[in-house]
Amino acid sequence: MSRSNMSGMTTAAIVYCSATWTTAGLGEDIARVLDSGGIETRVAAIGEIDPASLADVDYLFLGCWTHGWFVVNQHPVPAWVDWTRELPRLDHPRVALFTTYKVRTGSMFPRMRRALRDKAPRIELELQAKGRVLTDEGRRKLEAFIGG
Ligand SMILES: Cc1cc2nc3c(=O)[nH]c(=O)nc-3n(C[C@H](O)[C@H](O)[C@H](O)COP(=O)(O)O)c2cc1C
Repeated sequence: MSRSNMSGMTTAAIVYCSATWTTAGLGEDIARVLDSGGIETRVAAIGEIDPASLADVDYLFLGCWTHGWFVVNQHPVPAWVDWTRELPRLDHPRVALFTTYKVRTGSMFPRMRRALRDKAPRIELELQAKGRVLTDEGRRKLEAFIGG
């Protein structure tokens, strides 16, 4: 299925909340896959991009590092949750979530989904990695998601 916009390009935005650049790096790795799939991709930190502009992209990747007590209580940081309140309704983009972690992501994705429940009707993909590089499984899922 073609998701191209009026300019003919399929577009993506990757927006991350990262304290020590791991999640930012994972966002860049995701961007490399999208770029090689011919998708025009922007990567930005929360606060560096106009949230309203995200309603029009074809693919939207929202990332936050995993904060918690390492074995339990994983959750996105308040700065990310606050930022999601500025988002428009995301009816057009196909939305994916991503996170980086050290031990386990636990309740991270369910809580990210909860923060987005009034904004993103469907979240189709979750990607997690212990560093800045996609896992082989993550890369396969990502390529399937963008139809590559
Ligand atoms: C205060 C704090 C709490 C953390 N809690 C968890 C946790 O509950 N589970 C986990 O797997 N990693 C946890 N981590 C590890 C981070 O999620 C991991 O290092 C992540 O890659 C950092 O991303 P960033 O470099 O983008 O900030 C925690 C790190 C910090 C500093």
